[in-house]
Amino acid sequence: MSESASTADRPPLYGRKVLSFVRRSARLDDRLQRAWDAYADRYLLDIAAGEGSLNVRDDLRFDAGFVRSTWGNDHPLIVEIGSGQGENVVAAAAAHPELNFLALEVYDPGVAHTLLLAGKRDLANIRIAQVNAPELFKVCMPGVLAEVWTFFPDPWPKMKHHKRRIVQPELAGDVRRALVDGGVWRIATDIEDYALHVHEVMDDAVGFENVGSLTVSLPTEHVGKGNADSAAGLPHADFRESARFEGRALTNFEKKGLAAGRVIHDFTYRAV
Ligand SMILES: C[S@@+](CC[C@H](N)C(=O)[O-])C[C@H]1O[C@@H](n2cnc3c(N)ncnc32)[C@H](O)[C@@H]1O
Repeated sequence: MSESASTADRPPLYGRKVLSFVRRSARLDDRLQRAWDAYADRYLLDIAAGEGSLNVRDDLRFDAGFVRSTWGNDHPLIVEIGSGQGENVVAAAAAHPELNFLALEVYDPGVAHTLLLAGKRDLANIRIAQVNAPELFKVCMPGVLAEVWTFFPDPWPKMKHHKRRIVQPELAGDVRRALVDGGVWRIATDIEDYALHVHEVMDDAVGFENVGSLTVSLPTEHVGKGNADSAAGLPHADFRESARFEGRALTNFEKKGLAAGRVIHDFTYRAV
C-alpha cells in the first residue's frame, strides 16, 4: 500500500486519543487566581501525571482507602464529569454533608470557579480533580462510586465530531465497574441528537438498566449541525427517560437550553 493510501485510510485522530474537549489555555482573572491560590491546597487532588498534564497518574489506585484518606470518611462518593463552573456540584455538596463529591473538570477557569464556590462555603466534603475524566474511571476500583453525573456534556454537533461525545461504550463499561451495584449514572442533555446518542450507547449497555419512566419520542436517525432542523421530519420512536433530577441545580447551560426553547432530556441508568 502506498504511503498516501494508508494515510487516507486512517481515522482522523489515528494514534491519538479522541478527546471530548479542546485544550485551551485561559488566563485566570484576579478573582479566580486569588481563589486558586487560597483553596487549591485544600480542594485540588494531586492525581495528574505531571505539571500541566490532564492524564491521571499511572500509579493511582482509586479505592476505598484513597477515598477514606482524601475525604476523611467512608461516605458514599458522587463524581460529576465535566462540572463546568461548579454551581451544581457545590450546591449538592452543601446540601448533602453526608455524601462525598468529586468534580472532574479540565478547564482552568471552571476549576478555579469551583474552588471559589467551595472555599466560600467552607465545604469539607468536596474535592476537584483537573483531569481527563474517562482516565479516572480506568483506575477506579470496582464499586468505589455511588453515583456518576454528566450534565449537559459538550454537544459536538457536527456529524464528524460525534465520536468526541463523552458518553461512549468504553466509558460506560468503566463507569459500570466503578459503580456500586444499584448505583446510578445520571445524564442530562438539551440536545435532541445527543439524547438519541445516549440511548444508543446506554440502553443496551451491559450492566445498566434504564430506570426512566417517561416516554419520549425521538428521531431514530442522527442529524448534524447543519441539518438539525430536519429532525422533525425523520421517523421517530419511543424511548424511556427520567423526570428532571431534583438534585440538580439550574446551571447557565441548562438555563440557556431552556431559553432557546430546547427540551431537557434526563436519563437514569442503574448499575445492575
Ligand atoms: C457544556 S459544559 C457543562 C458544564 C456543567 N455540567 C453544567 O451543566 O453547567 C461541559 C463541561 O465538560 C467539560 N469537559 C469536557 N470533556 C471533559 C473531560 N474529558 N474531562 C473533564 N471535563 C470535561 C468541559 O470543559 C465543560 O466545562
